[in-house]
Amino acid sequence: MSGWFETVAHAQRLARKRLPRSVYGALLAGSEKGVSYGDNTAAFAELGFAPHVAGLPEKRDQTTTVMGERISLPVIISPTGVQAVHPGGEVAVARAAAARGTAMGLSSFASKPLEEVVAANPRTFFQMYWTGGRDAMRRRVDRAREAGVKGLIVTLDWSFSHGRDWGSPRVPERLTVREMARFAPEALARPRWLAGYLRSRTLPDLTTPNMAEPGRAAPTFFGAYGEWMQTPPPSWEDVRWLREQWDGPFMLKGVCRVDDALRAVDAGVTAISVSNHGGNNLDSTPAPIRVLPSIADAVGDRVDVLLDGGVRRGGDVVKALALGARAVMVGRASLWGLAANGQAGVENVLDILRGGIDAALLGLGRSSVRELTRDDVVIPPGFTRALGV
Ligand SMILES: Cc1cc2nc3c(=O)[nH]c(=O)nc-3n(C[C@H](O)[C@H](O)[C@H](O)COP(=O)(O)O)c2cc1C
Repeated sequence: MSGWFETVAHAQRLARKRLPRSVYGALLAGSEKGVSYGDNTAAFAELGFAPHVAGLPEKRDQTTTVMGERISLPVIISPTGVQAVHPGGEVAVARAAAARGTAMGLSSFASKPLEEVVAANPRTFFQMYWTGGRDAMRRRVDRAREAGVKGLIVTLDWSFSHGRDWGSPRVPERLTVREMARFAPEALARPRWLAGYLRSRTLPDLTTPNMAEPGRAAPTFFGAYGEWMQTPPPSWEDVRWLREQWDGPFMLKGVCRVDDALRAVDAGVTAISVSNHGGNNLDSTPAPIRVLPSIADAVGDRVDVLLDGGVRRGGDVVKALALGARAVMVGRASLWGLAANGQAGVENVLDILRGGIDAALLGLGRSSVRELTRDDVVIPPGFTRALGV
């Protein structure tokens, strides 16, 4: 099969080979020293399994529900605002998720309009940052409702930390002729990537159609980012207000402390994602898998608790579920799949995760993802962190 890959690490290698250097760099992201970015995957590797050898279940069930949607495996797509990876963009990711029976989280900084993404996958959750104040937020919520999204994801863990020790890629404001000339050597060094865009007769789009005001052109990525930087950060009262504007499932993404999880529940959310933004935000925030058990213990019986950050294999998903998550969200894994092989690459990633989850369930003697418990994993002393207790 052309373009097929065996593991997510393999997809990452292909992505690195196929994407222009600056696009790959934007996708790898990570902030400052990359302490959180590194811990997100290292922490999963510290956890062990406690497998059985006989009496194992012949059939294993991965279905579950997240934010009211039934999904065929406990993995959904995390919203990522990244442009220029593939001409199919978020529509290709949404189709792949639909083909594999799962849901799509769509970033408000995405390159494709949410109406197109909902058409490709009706199980779409729209992600929003707090930008522009209450009136602008309400207009975006109205648009999401009209487009038929199934839930909102509100991401609040962003503190505008920009420097990276290994260098940030240059991302232009617009693809002007001058910018294209500057970018040409990088693009020409990646003929396959370039050919994809030439075939689709498009250029990488650096606008954010989901941030457009009604009847206005889509702002550029930087225009939208600038507005966000100037917006006063939200209070818990604002979170409660936003929740009241939407009558469906509502996730708060980016929680890493127990006290914040409790406040989120008080504000009426129906789900949280334990997350450090994939290590792209405040560096030195612990890996979400370390803080998950305390948060799941505190609020897991009242809201859907998800985790995102560092998931690269099915075994990671099983570890997260054993420590109290209902499902996980994947960011880079799906982006690497998209870069490696478009929609088929994202399907490939979801198949890898499904296969790994199945193997772990079999080894652990569990016939369903809902049966996993902490006894299934070996947690080394000092592994967990409980913040805000
Ligand atoms: C390139 C990139 C762009 C991202 N953009 C967004 C975004 O627009 N909104 C959001 O809520 N999270 C965003 N994230 C964070 C992801 O949703 C998710 O929290 C993170 O990628 C999970 O870690 P993982 O990449 O190790 O799976 C982004 C992550 C990456 C790598």
